[in-house]
Amino acid sequence: MSKENSKRDILVTNALPYANGPLHIGHLLEHIQSDIWVRYQRLIGNNCTYICGEDAHGTAIMLKAEENKLSPEELIEQVKISHMEDFLAFNISHDNYHTTHSEENRFFSEIIFTRLKEKGFIEEREIEQLFDTERQIFLSDRYVKGTCPSCGAEDQYGDNCEICSSTYSATDLIDPISVITETKPEIKKSSHLFFKLSDLKSEIKDWLDNALVPRQALNKLSEWIDGDLKDWNISRDEPYFGFKIPGYPGKYFYVWLDAPIGYLASHKNYLDKLDKAEDFDLYWGIDSKAELYHFIGKDIMYFHALFFPAMLLKSDFRQPSGVFIHGFLTVDGQKMSKSRGTFILASTYREILDPVYLRYYFAAKLGTGVDDIDLNLEDFCQRANSDLVGKFINIGSRTAKFINENFKNKLSKTVHNEALINEFIDRSSVISEAYENREFNKAIREIMFLADKANRYIDKMEPWVLFKDKKNKDLVQSVCTTSLNLFRLMAIMLSPVIPTLSEKIYLFLNIKFPQWNDMNKILLNHEIGVYKPLLTRIEMDKIEKIREKSKEL
Ligand code: MSP
Ligand code: ZN
Repeated sequence: MSKENSKRDILVTNALPYANGPLHIGHLLEHIQSDIWVRYQRLIGNNCTYICGEDAHGTAIMLKAEENKLSPEELIEQVKISHMEDFLAFNISHDNYHTTHSEENRFFSEIIFTRLKEKGFIEEREIEQLFDTERQIFLSDRYVKGTCPSCGAEDQYGDNCEICSSTYSATDLIDPISVITETKPEIKKSSHLFFKLSDLKSEIKDWLDNALVPRQALNKLSEWIDGDLKDWNISRDEPYFGFKIPGYPGKYFYVWLDAPIGYLASHKNYLDKLDKAEDFDLYWGIDSKAELYHFIGKDIMYFHALFFPAMLLKSDFRQPSGVFIHGFLTVDGQKMSKSRGTFILASTYREILDPVYLRYYFAAKLGTGVDDIDLNLEDFCQRANSDLVGKFINIGSRTAKFINENFKNKLSKTVHNEALINEFIDRSSVISEAYENREFNKAIREIMFLADKANRYIDKMEPWVLFKDKKNKDLVQSVCTTSLNLFRLMAIMLSPVIPTLSEKIYLFLNIKFPQWNDMNKILLNHEIGVYKPLLTRIEMDKIEKIREKSKEL
C-alpha cells in the first residue's frame, strides 16, 4: 500500500480468459483498454496493481483436454503459456498472471461458500436436468440442442432460441439431442445448491447506486433486478473439472462461482510472492479504501455486476468500486469470421505487424460506452499510417537530422517558440482528464490536434530553407529544439497507448523514462542521440497476409 496520502491505491483486473484456446484480437481489445488505463495511473504516480489469470475450470476445458489426450492440468499449462506470450508481445503489463486452478482459489472459494451458507444464503433444491446416458454426464445448456418449444425452430441450444429469442429450460426442448454423443438425453433429478440472489435485490441496487458502471449497462441491470431475478445454481455434478464442494460428495463448484474469486486468488498469489501478505486486507477487507475495478465485456456483466458483488457482500469482503464494460469487437463491420479471414488470432497479428498500430487504433476508438467497436482493416491501415507515421513520428524525423548533423547532437540553450511548448503543456490537463475517464478516443483526438499544430509550425519555419543561409544557424537550432521538445511532450502523452514507441523516442532523446509531471520541464542544451527511423508505414499486403493466414484456421 502506498504511504503517501495523495497516491491512490488501485487494483485492476481483466476478465480471466478461458484456458481452452488461443487469444484473438477481441480479447486484446479488453486488455489493451485496461493496460492503457493502468499505464496512465502509474504514469501520474498512483499505486496501480494489475492482475489477471486463466479461467481453468468447467466442462468445456474437461472435454477439450480429453479430446487432446491431455490432463486438464496439462492443457491449462499449455494454454496459459500461449496467453502469456501473447500478452507480453502486446505489452500488456499485468503484474501477476495466475490461474483459478490454484490453492489460493480453492481457499477463497471455500471461505466464500461457507460464509454464504452460514448466513443462510445457500439453499439445496432438487431439479430436473437432461442427462447423457452414454457419456454419463449432466448436460449444461450449451451441450444440448433441439427444437424451440415456442416457435419450432430446429437446432437451438438449451437456454434460448436464436430465431425467436424466447428463453426456456433445456428440459422444455422438443427432441433434445446431446451435443457430446448425439444421443437422446434422459431427464434425471439431482439436488443442487442455490445462492439466494432473489433475497438481495435491494442490496445489489444500493451497490449499483454507488459503483462506476456505464449508464447503458445500468439500464439493463436494473431491468434484470426488477424483473424475475432467479436464485443461482452454483453446483455441478460429477464428472466435472473444478473444486469439490466441502460437505457435498460428488458436487463441484460451478466454474462461474470460482472464476471471479480468481481475482482474489491472483492478487493473494502476487502479494505472497512480494512478501506483502499483510496488504491483502487493505485491498479486500470490508473497510478497504483502495479502489477496485474490473474491465470486462458486455456478455459477462451479470456475473460481475450482480452475482459477484452480491457474493462479496455476504461473505465479508469489499465490493468493486466499478465495473468498466466494453462492447464487442467486430472486424470489417461484422462478427469475426474464419471464412472471411477476420477471426484474427493475437499470434497471427503479431507475426505480421507491430502491436503498436493496433494499440493505437483501439485507443482511437475506445470510449466509455458499451457499443461494439469495429476494426475496419483498410481504415486501420490508413489511420495508423497517417496519424502515427505521417503526423507524430514526422515531427521528430524532419527536425532531428539538423541537430544531429550540424550541432553535434546538441539542443539549443533557449527555444524559439516557448509559447507553443507551454500551450502543449497546458493542454496536457485535458488529455489527462480524458485518460482518467477512459475516454481514450478523446485523448487521441486532442493529441493529434497538437501534432497538426507542431507540423504547421515546422512547415511555417521551414528549417530546410533557413538552413541555406549561414546567418540563420542559431535559429535553425532553436526551431528544431522547439520541435523536438514538442515531440518529447507528445511521446509522454502517448506513452500509455504506445509504450514501446515512446521508449524508443526517450532513447533517441537520451532521457530517462519520464513521469507525466516531467512534461513541465523543457529540454535545453542537452545532447540527444542519433535519429534512426522509428516506425514505418503499414503496407496493404501485410493486411492481406493477415487475412490469408486467418483463413487457414
Ligand atoms: N472466462 C470468462 C471470464 C471469467 S472472469 C472471472 C470469459 N472468458 S472469455 O475468454 O470468453 O472472454 C474473456 C473476455 O474477453 C471477456 O470480457 C469477453 O467479453 C471478452 N471478449 C471475448 N470476445 C470478444 C470480442 N469479440 N470483443 C471484445 N471482447 C471480447 O468470458
Ligand atoms: Zn424459437
